[in-house]
Amino acid sequence: MDGNLSANDISHIVDADRAHVWHHLTQHKPFETGEPRIIIEGKGMRVWDQKGKEYLDGVSGGVWTVNVGYGRESIANVVRDQLIKMPYFSGSAGSVPGALFAEKLISKMPGMTRVYQTNSGSEANEKAFKMVRQISHKNHGGKKYKILYRDRDYHGSTLATMSAGGQDERNAQYGPFAPGFVRVPHCMEYRAQWNLTGEAYAEASVKAIEEVILAEGAETIGSLCLEPVTAGGGVIPAPEGYWPRIQELCRKYDILLHIDEVVCGVGRTGTEWFGYQHYGIEPDFVTMAKGVASGYAAIACCVTNERVFDMFKDNSDDPMSYFRDISTFGGCTAGPAAALECMRIIEDEGLLANTAKMGERMMGNLQALSESHAVIGDVRGLGLFVGAELVTDRTSKEPASEKQIAQVVAECGAMGVIIGATNRSVPGFNNTLCFSPALISTADDIDNITETVGKALGKVFG
Ligand SMILES: Cc1ncc(COP(=O)(O)O)c(C=O)c1O
Repeated sequence: MDGNLSANDISHIVDADRAHVWHHLTQHKPFETGEPRIIIEGKGMRVWDQKGKEYLDGVSGGVWTVNVGYGRESIANVVRDQLIKMPYFSGSAGSVPGALFAEKLISKMPGMTRVYQTNSGSEANEKAFKMVRQISHKNHGGKKYKILYRDRDYHGSTLATMSAGGQDERNAQYGPFAPGFVRVPHCMEYRAQWNLTGEAYAEASVKAIEEVILAEGAETIGSLCLEPVTAGGGVIPAPEGYWPRIQELCRKYDILLHIDEVVCGVGRTGTEWFGYQHYGIEPDFVTMAKGVASGYAAIACCVTNERVFDMFKDNSDDPMSYFRDISTFGGCTAGPAAALECMRIIEDEGLLANTAKMGERMMGNLQALSESHAVIGDVRGLGLFVGAELVTDRTSKEPASEKQIAQVVAECGAMGVIIGATNRSVPGFNNTLCFSPALISTADDIDNITETVGKALGKVFG
């Protein structure tokens, strides 16, 4: 823990925070009597709070972000060097790290060719939405403007991305939303809408999307936006056979496929660089944020294939035909400099393979825990992106309450392990514990997390 901060400094910081900081996703009333948690320092998989308490971070900075772990001097060094040389110029010009990072990223994304740099996942998704709208105006008389999104998926906190938000509790009280966004059914087999399993369930899920397309009119649908594995909506990988059918559907109706890799991207799912690459599909847009620079700098990207890119340069005589969009901080060079170094770390340290191995261990440990804890209804995930859905009855699948879930998270915290949970997301179904430790996790780290979860479940559910 940071020896440079005296007890007085810390107490001043806590006071300043309580007086002036508005924390994200947080009800502040408890801070009138208690202290907010302030994270002072991090190293590897561990962080320390203002009281000097050490935590094993099972969620990479709370929200699936610090994929290469804390305290990476090499990232700090490349960012520092880059900032001194050239911190910023608007994205209408290029930059040295911007070009090199784009080249490196594209080398890991066969079929994709262009990187549009932005500063948040929400913004990256909005770029894709705007491109779809502009393509509609340029090529389809403005008619092919609708964007399909899936129940339980999340694409960001801005009003347009919330308009594409499949989590009603997250959206509640923030409407009205933008027109032209249409919801399609989820594909969560554990909570199947039809009495089917496996491939048959996958087929029904995709057929249900087709029905929406036909009801709306295929000529009005511009894109389909999906998370490869739904994150905050419950950690939901699609059933076997889902993705090839999605690809087929998009081709059949000339619908652009937008994959939101904000959580899954850049290694989180193990073995592959991106979630969609596990399924052999060819998206038109891939958006990413969180793990791109592991939170060492703010960077997000909307990556497209050449087919999309070409539609914005095909008529240079038309002054309105190119993508007339800017993201001021999309011109910051710290982001691509940090992102390039993160990719080097992932390659040199073999983190894609480690993620697959540790992810399997985590799933296995949680499955084993479910033998002694009937409250674990389902364990799901891909790589180090894992969820455990808690139910009070395995037969009826009655969800555990959000309050009980919060107690499990708090018990783990008290034992020095930070885990996450779905919250204020899908009404009545905020009952999934979330795990996303850094890609550098060791077997001991994974075992420590799951053993602690076992103890916490014992305390809360007996
Ligand atoms: C799948 C997904 N897409 C988009 C976003 C939005 O990213 P940001 O918070 O960087 O705007 C998130 C954030 O949690 C996310 O989980």
